[in-house]
Amino acid sequence: MSLVKTANTETIALASNFLQKGDLVIFPTETVYGIGADATNGDAVEKIYAAKKRPNFNPLISHFAHVSDIDAHAEINKAARLIMSEFMPGPITLILARKENSLISDIVTAGLTTIAVRVPDHKVARELISLAGAPIAAPSANISGRLSVTAPAHLEKDLINCAAITLMDGRTKTGLESTILDCSTGTPVILRAGAVTADMISDLLGMRVEVSLTPKENDIKSPGQLLRHYAPQSTLRLNALIPEKGEAFLGFGPMTFITHDGPLLNLSENGDVVEAAANLFDYLNQLDKENCPTIAIMPIPNKDIGIAINERLSRAAHV
Ligand code: TXA
Ligand code: MG
Repeated sequence: MSLVKTANTETIALASNFLQKGDLVIFPTETVYGIGADATNGDAVEKIYAAKKRPNFNPLISHFAHVSDIDAHAEINKAARLIMSEFMPGPITLILARKENSLISDIVTAGLTTIAVRVPDHKVARELISLAGAPIAAPSANISGRLSVTAPAHLEKDLINCAAITLMDGRTKTGLESTILDCSTGTPVILRAGAVTADMISDLLGMRVEVSLTPKENDIKSPGQLLRHYAPQSTLRLNALIPEKGEAFLGFGPMTFITHDGPLLNLSENGDVVEAAANLFDYLNQLDKENCPTIAIMPIPNKDIGIAINERLSRAAHV
């Protein structure tokens, strides 16, 4: 039986028992909801790939309760150490060289010599990981290639049924998945844009970090950078200025001149990209349920977290 419960001391403890037994748990983080398993238990981790219908060459992020827990599993160089002390816990994942004696299953890392590590800035997530007593492998709690989920109401039934328990804790704060920064080579490279931006990292390191958001051919470094991703059922029309008949419309900024008799939501009336990021998956999930052939979306400024929003949108629109 799959339980769906509000997160509290009791249900978090129950969920940690399920993790220890090798079951899956859906839990909130500050970015998106995740579906997790004990990262040291290969059989448990395999259930994640099956539940999400995720190709097994696409590795998972290992989540830790404390920054200091990462040392046992990854080689932490100077740049990584600096980033960890500044941005962790928080919405960033580092790719580091994996330590050979790490107990994390090869299934988590899909056989790579690197490992993705993250410390979520979320009380429920960290309490859960801490009580489970092991790193937790967790991708976003959506069927592979579909929209990520930032509110419990948008979790797919099929996925809930694969988990022993779902811990509900309202809407997530950041709303976009963590920034992924590859620190395993000399020059740090951003593989996925997020709330921790290239400018923030560059300022901290005193050097320009590279940004490489699209996969190079046969590049096993970034197996998750599939072009079509985050895809709703409806087709997306980006940079739309006014809605057309029959469309669902997702606005950004003041919309005083826009009238529309179809479904309409506004990511941020004040034109605030941080607010827009927090609303993005929630509103896309809502509009997708309207079953319109197209969701039209107004332009989002390509600055700060707007860069990450536009990255998600261009992949979601990719056919
Ligand atoms: O905010 C987040 O990061 C959420 C929450 C639940 O923590 N998790 C998440 O996981 O977005 P997922 O699996 O949906 O995305 C993780 C990405 C994938 O694109 C995967 O390919 C990449 O991280 N990744 C994992 N390990 C990697 C590695 N060793 N090298 C390069 N990319 C890696
Ligand atoms: Mg994902």
